[in-house]
Order: sequence, then C-alpha cells, then structure tokens
Amino acid sequence: MPQKSVINYMQKIVIKGNKELSGKIKISGAKNSVVALIPAAILSDEEVTLYNVPNISDTKSLLDIIKLLNGKAEYKDETLKIDCHNIQNIVVPEDLSNKLRASYYFMGALLSKYKHAEIYFPGGCNIGSRPIDFHIKGFEKLGAKVTIEGNKYTFDAEHLKGARIYLDFASVGATINIMLAAVKAEGTTYISNAAKEPEIVNVATFLNNMGAKISGAGTSEIKIEGVDRLGKGVIDVIPDRIEAGTYIIIGALLGKDLTIEGIIEEHVEALLSKLKEMGVNIKVKKNKILLNHPEKFNAINVKTLVFPGFPTDLGQPMSALLTQADGMSIFEETIYENRMGHIKYLQKMGANIIVNERTAIITGPTKLKGQAVEATDLRAGATMVIAGLIAKGTTTISEIGHILRGYENIVEKLTEVGADIKIIEVED
Ligand code: EPU
Repeated sequence: MPQKSVINYMQKIVIKGNKELSGKIKISGAKNSVVALIPAAILSDEEVTLYNVPNISDTKSLLDIIKLLNGKAEYKDETLKIDCHNIQNIVVPEDLSNKLRASYYFMGALLSKYKHAEIYFPGGCNIGSRPIDFHIKGFEKLGAKVTIEGNKYTFDAEHLKGARIYLDFASVGATINIMLAAVKAEGTTYISNAAKEPEIVNVATFLNNMGAKISGAGTSEIKIEGVDRLGKGVIDVIPDRIEAGTYIIIGALLGKDLTIEGIIEEHVEALLSKLKEMGVNIKVKKNKILLNHPEKFNAINVKTLVFPGFPTDLGQPMSALLTQADGMSIFEETIYENRMGHIKYLQKMGANIIVNERTAIITGPTKLKGQAVEATDLRAGATMVIAGLIAKGTTTISEIGHILRGYENIVEKLTEVGADIKIIEVED
C-alpha cells in the first residue's frame, strides 16, 4: 500500500516594519524566576501557589517534569498550584531535561528531598559551553557523590551537611541550585561570591515562605540554615526584567507615548542609564515607563556584566538599537563566549558591524531592510523581532520556538500597540 506523505509545518514570525508604536505593554512574570520556582516547589510537603506565572513554553516543559514525577500541577489565569507531597523520585530523561537549561534545578531539589537524583544534562540556548561544574562542586561540598555516565548525572548522599561554598564566578544557576540542595541540609551553608540577580531573591523568598531559613539573598554572601521540613508557601513571580528591557528598547526605537507597565525600576536601571546616554526620552513613574523615540541616538559603549551591571540577556537586543546610533558604538559580551549568532542577520539586513570574538563594533545609523532571518537562540530571536520592527519591508523569522520559550504573547502584545506582526505556518 502506498504510504501517505506526512506534511510537517513550521511557524515563522512575519513583520512589516517601520511603524511607530503607541499604547501599553504589560510585562509578564520572569522566565528565569519561574523556571527555578517550579523545581523549588517539589521541596514542599504541601501545596504551594505561584502567582503571575508566564505562559511560555519553558513553564510547560518544567510542568512536564513535575507530572513525570507524579506531582500535581494546576495552571489557570497565571496562577499555578503545585502539590508534590506524593511525588516519586523518577529518573528525569534526556528528552525532558534537554528542552531547557533550568531542568538542572531538579538536581538540587531532588537531591535535597531524596538524597538521590538521576537526571540528564540540561539543554538551553547555544551561547557558549555552559558547564555545570560549580553546581557539581557545590553539591559535593554538601556531601553528595556525583557520578557522570555520558550525559547522565547521578547524585547520592547519606546526609547533606552544611558547608562553606565559594563560587569561582557568581553563577546564577549554581547559586540557586546550591540553595535548593542546602535548604534541608544539617547545619549551616554559606555561599560566597553568590550571584545577586533579582531572580535569586525571588527564589529565596519563596523558600523562606515555605519555612526555609535563608538570609543574604541579593548580596554576595548567602546564609542557609537547614530546616527539617518545608510546607505551604506562596510567591508572586517578579516581573521579567529582560522582557521589560526588550520592550523598553523597542520603545526607545519606535515609541510614541508607549508605556511599559509592571516593571521594577531598580531591575532595569543599567539599561535605562544607557538609554538616557543615547538621548532617549524616558519618564519613569512608579512601575511604569513612558517612552518616546528621539530623532537621533548617540553612539555609546555597552559591556555586559553580572547584576546590577548591564545584563547579558539584553546585550543582543541592545545591539539592534546600536545600529541606529550616530557613529561608532562598541558592544562587549563578557559572560558567554558565543552570543554573537544574531550579528550575521543584522548584517544581512544592512547593519554595519565588525565582530571580533566577544566584541562587536557597530557603526550607524544604517537603515535596515526586511529579510529572511533566523532566531538562533532566545535573545537572538528577540533581536530579530526588534530589527524587523525597525526595518523597511518584510522580515520573516524562522526557528521561533526559541522566542516562544521566553516571551509570553509577544505577537499579541506588539500587535496591540500598532505593530504589523503575525505568526504564520508554512510547510517545512
Ligand atoms: N558557568 C560555569 N560553570 C558553572 C556555571 C556557570 O563555567 O557551573 C559559567 C557559564 O558558562 C557562563 C557564566 O558562568 O559563562 C554565567 O553562567 P550562569 O550560571 O550565571 O548562567 P545560567 O544560570 O546558566 C542564567 C539564565 C541565563 C542568563 C544567565 C546570566 C536561567 C535559566 N538562565 O543562566 O538566561 O543569561 O543566568 O544572567 O536562569 C536567557 O534568559 O536568555 C538566558 C540565557
């Protein structure tokens, strides 16, 4: 019998650019918080509730792991209830762990709860080698034995015991993972040179609401006094400072009385300071930012750093803005080795950029023209959206799954303020 041919479809984002944007964009809950809060929830022996949870594919991928472990999750209207009092410690397979980076938080959480965890190496954006050696060293300091077979990691501990742990680099993931592993350990753990990102404070607050004893989150030394049990807890996911930053950059380029709502000003301070230097018209009032694009942007230099420095996750979006600045700007990425994947597409659209390893020299202003481009990773994808919005003509972005991992309703939010943007399905 002849076989029926199967047609595969793929989604693309299509943008007709060069339109001013007006109105309001509301910021969703932070991806990089919720992806740690969900694994943290399994530590509780009762039901926990998370508010302001973004409906992004990373949330779904983590809930698939919760369900695999036999946990219960109910997600409705941005509220997520998780009950893991009856979960089972099952091996987290590679097809679930490699969907995203944050699956690695199940290492710390399962190790803490069961003193045993089996899980495959995480996925995530291809922006550098991204080892997890600091996580592993931290778990070992707490008393765990770690066995690595291929991509599979097995963690075992008779007891987890509080320890002094120094991080060679203030890693966000290692700080959170060690916090999760240490929260029920015997005695006190100190993490020094801890990362200070707001997402870490959000996770520590959630754990404390469940009964943990963590102090110093948001500073470079975190103290974790082990407790026996964690119970009911609630948390509001903080607003996504990277999503906010992406829309703020869009507003700087195209805003005509464009308001970005639901931000925490201190979380976007480094970006606002750079935009002011460029001559962008910004008014901040409580948790809102009103943006009007200037006629001309000053060229500036941007160097990514750990919080409260300029965030690496906004370096790529910022590079699209720098193509419109008058003169030579320098963009330097210091956190990852490979965050320049988007540059060739900006060049294809007409940008004048020279890349030397982690540095891009961007000379502007150049008028961008719509082209077929690719979202090579999440923030590269956001950068292509920005470039498409400012370009003349039509931009078609492929591999948009990367974008949908981290930006809730991006097409709807931009359409609402006047952008011509849609998702289409085409034959693969
Ligand atoms: N690093 C190591 N060894 C480790 C851990 C990190 O060498 O054990 C290195 C990394 O290779 C990198 C640097 O340290 O060069 C920083 O890594 P970090 O651990 O801080 O990053 P992460 O936890 O893997 C999170 C976010 C990233 C964000 C960074 C920095 C999540 C799930 N991911 O990654 O988000 O760029 O912190 O702020 O929270 C994104 O959202 O686009 C994204 C990549």
